[in-house]
Amino acid sequence: MKKYIQTIFIGSPNWFKTLAPPVMSFLRQHNFIGKTIIHFCTHGGGGLGEIGNDIAKECSKSRILPGIAVNGTVQSKEVRNWLEAIEYKFQ
Ligand SMILES: Cc1cc2nc3c(=O)[nH]c(=O)nc-3n(C[C@H](O)[C@H](O)[C@H](O)COP(=O)(O)O)c2cc1C
Repeated sequence: MKKYIQTIFIGSPNWFKTLAPPVMSFLRQHNFIGKTIIHFCTHGGGGLGEIGNDIAKECSKSRILPGIAVNGTVQSKEVRNWLEAIEYKFQ
């Protein structure tokens, strides 16, 4: 049986409190119905801004897990803690 991808990681810089336009275009060009979306961003002080809300608007039939905002000083442990918090299982 064909195996379909169920979980999509979406990463973007925070641009004007939301996704960078190329990432938004990518979301609009694909169908993520029924998929789980895990998002993350880099930022310059504004954190995730409206990114989670805007992904939820574009992908209303997807499951959106809590995202993470990282800056240049982030430690890999912080990312690992986030993946554990959302119970992401490494395959
Ligand atoms: C056009 C533009 C808009 C930006 N808007 C925001 C913003 O609203 N909030 C914020 O925290 N950072 C903002 N930034 C800073 C970027 O998020 C930050 O430089 C970027 O995430 C760093 O990652 P990179 O080195 O991969 O680009 C903006 C940067 C650019 C170029």
